[in-house]
Amino acid sequence: MRNRRLLFVAFILSCLITLFSFAPIELKKINFIVPKGWPQPAYSFTKFPLTEEGFQLGRKLFYDPVLSRDGSVSCASCHNQSTGFTHVDHAHSHGIEGRTGTRNTPALMNLAWNKLYMWDGAVNNIEVQALAPITNPIEMDETLEHVVKKLNSSRIYRHMFDDVFGDSVVTGQHLLLAITQFVVQLNSYNSKYDKHIRKEAGGKFTNEEEHGLQLFRQHCTSCHTEPLFTNNQFENNGLPIDNTIHDIGRMKVTQNPADSLKFKVPTLRNIQYSAPYMHDGRFTRLAQVVNHYTGGIVRSGNLSEKLAKPLVLTEDEKKDLIAFLMTLTDREFLLNLRYSFPKETK
Ligand code: HEC
Ligand code: HEC
Repeated sequence: MRNRRLLFVAFILSCLITLFSFAPIELKKINFIVPKGWPQPAYSFTKFPLTEEGFQLGRKLFYDPVLSRDGSVSCASCHNQSTGFTHVDHAHSHGIEGRTGTRNTPALMNLAWNKLYMWDGAVNNIEVQALAPITNPIEMDETLEHVVKKLNSSRIYRHMFDDVFGDSVVTGQHLLLAITQFVVQLNSYNSKYDKHIRKEAGGKFTNEEEHGLQLFRQHCTSCHTEPLFTNNQFENNGLPIDNTIHDIGRMKVTQNPADSLKFKVPTLRNIQYSAPYMHDGRFTRLAQVVNHYTGGIVRSGNLSEKLAKPLVLTEDEKKDLIAFLMTLTDREFLLNLRYSFPKETK
């Protein structure tokens, strides 16, 4: 009798377990925050809504060297959180087997507000952007087909993809969508500058910072437009062409000579930590950047008319401008554990 009752309980339990493992799990929806006073993002979240599970899967992939041919390079190898997801100390990015790239790794943040990606805008959809580094022979040197095969041989990944997409067979499309969930949530809007604008505690500017903001609004916002600190355009800011790579920038994509030496206007958020600067990492200090704008501009036919009038700044004004740029540092973003290397999931 006792045995029978035990058997019955065991039977009910196993029924429940089977039921739960087949029922689709309820995904935790994430509301994308548009900070007060900011424009609506360009990326549409309706097609593939953000979920906590999707974000965590994308995060795991971002930090996993399995995406590279020999398992040595992850996205995070070049995009390091503490420096605004850029590659500090390298003018040009370093990929698989120490191969050197041709461009400086850009910082990653507030990407949902961008329409075009890469220094020359070669990628027009964030959902496929990750294909570029995965297949680039000097970055991860892998094929999408082979990455998918490797992921399908992992029980953990099959389980996670099943939770997010309702399909335990990993596909290239699902892989790219998962990475997108992570990168579009790398958002920075809690710097001292933001607190200053929102009149919050911790946002009181010194006289130098306040004066720097005024100078910035006079001379820099036409391209580095608030609040994103980019106008999302391609501009020629008067840098002489580099003498090793001869990178012509936007013209590579459009073939239009009018686009020669135009590059995507980068955000200046977290600029204190994202050195080196410019598409080829030619400057290591902000003082060099400011000296470029005051004395280094090459007046070619393609120079943006926004820089047509020469800029003269005193040494004190230069210091104030840099003091202001430092207020764009967002420690909550740079140290946010949510974006850091994920703990191993069982
Ligand atoms: C070997 C270094 C390296 C690796 C690995 C790498 N990146 Fe990048 N990333 C770069 C460089 C360099 C660029 C700029 C490329 C260009 O302008 O042609 C870039 C550009 C980007 C951009 C565009 C940013 C913008 O504002 O236009 C995104 C997004 C990005 N990477 C995400 C990723 C993801 C996701 C991965 C992993 C799948 C990854 N990267 C792996 C170096 C790297
Ligand atoms: C005509 C548009 C324009 C104006 C005006 C402008 N910039 Fe830029 N800025 C750019 C572009 C384009 C780049 C990237 C150029 C490249 O990499 O070749 C850039 C790059 C930078 C960088 C390096 C960012 C990075 O991540 O590498 C800093 C810092 C910077 N600008 C600061 C300023 C300051 C300060 C001013 C005002 C004195 C200013 N800019 C005015 C267009 C402009």
